[in-house]
Amino acid sequence: MQENSTKKIIFSGIQPTGTFTLGNYIGAVSNWGKLQDEYRCIYSIVDMHAITVRQEPAELRKNTLAAYALLLACGIDLTKTILFVQSHVKAHAELNWVLNCSAQFGELTRMTQFKEKSEKHPEDINAGLFTYPVLQAADILAYNADLVPVGADQKQHLELARNIAQRFNHKYGDTFTLPEPYIPQTGAKIMSLQEPTQKMSKSDENPNAVISILDEPDVIIRKFKRAVTDSEACVRFAEGKDGINNLLTIYSVVSGKSVSEAEKEFDGKGYGDFKLAVGEAVSDKLKSVREDYARLIADKAYLTECCKKSALTASAVSQRIIDKVYRKVGYLTVK
Ligand code: TRP
Repeated sequence: MQENSTKKIIFSGIQPTGTFTLGNYIGAVSNWGKLQDEYRCIYSIVDMHAITVRQEPAELRKNTLAAYALLLACGIDLTKTILFVQSHVKAHAELNWVLNCSAQFGELTRMTQFKEKSEKHPEDINAGLFTYPVLQAADILAYNADLVPVGADQKQHLELARNIAQRFNHKYGDTFTLPEPYIPQTGAKIMSLQEPTQKMSKSDENPNAVISILDEPDVIIRKFKRAVTDSEACVRFAEGKDGINNLLTIYSVVSGKSVSEAEKEFDGKGYGDFKLAVGEAVSDKLKSVREDYARLIADKAYLTECCKKSALTASAVSQRIIDKVYRKVGYLTVK
């Protein structure tokens, strides 16, 4: 990682819960390799955000390390990208407090995620849940990130981070870069295997609808065999053939062939053969992720070392911003 690089900074936080789906992999994760050459990428596993809803401590610890290993297995290269655990870098909590004093009660009450989560957990509407987006703003602003990849659900939080940054800059003078949303060049949108008009989502109740990137080959093939199709029995991309269209898209992305090449390849063949071929192609594609993950998760010493080193780098970058912020707000310096 070059300290003085002029590359734009991308920051993203990832919750240490669950795994990725084939949809995430094709749509986003598989583009990371390219992203880390073009930008200075900083990714954090946000365990501090995670405890705004009840977590089993042992599970959280395990999921945090698993998320770290999974991100490495998906192609994050630690010689280019900083990947660290949020609670290992003090700047997040420190900046969170200062920004709390610029965030407004009114704007926080308007956050739809807060409203949704407090409806879902009426027994535990804690203050952390309420100020969750302030911590998120601290994550981003502690690195003066230029760009933040955001899905629709996080747009409002990024907008809030910009507002907080702007308000702080106005009160204390120019300090923070205003982060912009980064709209990734998305790969294809992958749909559920059971309801192909809906996006493939890891929270889907039906496990047959979703391919997890760590699914074993036999599981992947079984899920593709059960994928919903239509009664035409012809492998072609066409309006109304949502199931087949989705399978053709997946096949095309993982095999590198165009959709029309794939149509030709399966001309005259039945859906059974086609589904098996898609399942095998997906399983092959995910083989290296599966193997790398298995190797990494078995090597706790290596993962711990990576976490430590990255936390040091992230701390060094964010400390410069904290120093500046502390000076600006008028904390007494004794260094
Ligand atoms: N709130 C984000 C989510 O649930 C996670 C997150 C935390 C984040 N801090 C961030 C995302 C900073 C982008 C930037 O997905």
